[in-house]
Amino acid sequence: MKFQGMVIGVPKEIMKSENRIAATPDTVKKMVAEGATVLVETGGGLGSYFSDEQYVAAGAQMEEDVTKIFATADVILKVKEPLFNEKVGKHEAEMVRDGQYLITFLHPASPVNHDMIRQLASTGVISLTLDGIPRITRAQSMDALSSMSTVAGYKGLLNAATRLPKFMPMTGTAVGTIKPANVLVIGAGVSGLQSIATAKRLGAVVTACDIRPEADEQAKSLGAKTHDAGIPAELAIGEGGYAKSLPEEWLIKERENLKELVKKADIVVLSALIPGKQAPILITEEMVKSMAPGSYIVDISIDQGGNCECTPSGTVEVIHGVFIDGTKNIPGSVPTSATWMFSQNIYNFLAYLAQDGSITLNRQDEIVASSLTTIDKEIVHAGTLEAMGV
Ligand code: NAI
Repeated sequence: MKFQGMVIGVPKEIMKSENRIAATPDTVKKMVAEGATVLVETGGGLGSYFSDEQYVAAGAQMEEDVTKIFATADVILKVKEPLFNEKVGKHEAEMVRDGQYLITFLHPASPVNHDMIRQLASTGVISLTLDGIPRITRAQSMDALSSMSTVAGYKGLLNAATRLPKFMPMTGTAVGTIKPANVLVIGAGVSGLQSIATAKRLGAVVTACDIRPEADEQAKSLGAKTHDAGIPAELAIGEGGYAKSLPEEWLIKERENLKELVKKADIVVLSALIPGKQAPILITEEMVKSMAPGSYIVDISIDQGGNCECTPSGTVEVIHGVFIDGTKNIPGSVPTSATWMFSQNIYNFLAYLAQDGSITLNRQDEIVASSLTTIDKEIVHAGTLEAMGV
């Protein structure tokens, strides 16, 4: 059996407002069926509306004391990077152990996490980061980043729609017809496409703009109009078909090109990203000033710095009469669906790594090589070492 004799620990997430958890009763059942003992922290699933009774019925053992989970488990499954646990007065990076596996989103290249990653390395924990899973066909079922982008695109658009002081669809009334809202989506990757689909379902007129022609095609297939960003394909497309960082002179042209559209938009969804880089600035303060009062910018790329130069990090502010939404961790606000997808992704990843009750890491394998972050008391993740200047 795949997980024969393995102890898998699932702590409650401790980040503020984080309601997700790394396993559902469904995935616990699958792990137990394959021979694992699964320890779930008491109340860990409540934020996603999974009760302790459901976990117990699935075969989990509930554990009140999280330090015992860290002390006993062979593998720890989490959603968020290790943080200081106020309840027990210890950092999660201190609770992990030499030779234990930790699988979670570590965002190890991000400078704010460098000290934590160094601390993980020093403990000897073998950590694998879910944001390192490559976007290749055979890794699709493990791709938690795409799953969470789907949630962010959906909920980000809904947040904008509910605060917009207008109807989204064209609405006929006894006193006349109200025009549909204009939604502009900049960056039509996984989250942008989900925003487009959601805005279309609500009846808005949607325009999409991306620098990859393939993204334009996908946006059109969802019923959006597309706007040519005016960037030559050889500048826009890099390794593996992903977008590349544009030279500043081309970003200036793109901003110029977007000005009229931004001015006319009721909602602007910003989800333009370059893998592993700071998000490009596509909306300037001048462009915000040009928008009608009451219109709404939702900057889904805020975790990578944001696409608008005015986006407040982690909150919503009205700037020059325009709502600018820099809410972070949007997937955490749709916890049941986000947990359902996340837990399937992390289960599939663990099942990929485990065989006959132990984990074997083939470091030549692309999925392992790009997600492995610390092993043998060293940091081995290429993007992290580059970001640390090593
Ligand atoms: P992402 O989150 O890195 O980027 C989001 C979007 O921003 C991309 O479409 C990109 O072209 C666009 N962008 C970057 N700079 C821009 C600029 N200056 N102006 C306008 N748009 C800009 O990308 P994401 O969403 O992770 O994936 C992109 C594509 O990769 C997907 O649409 C899909 O086709 C493919 N993919 C394939 C997977 C697989 O095969 N397993 C998994 C996930 C994605």
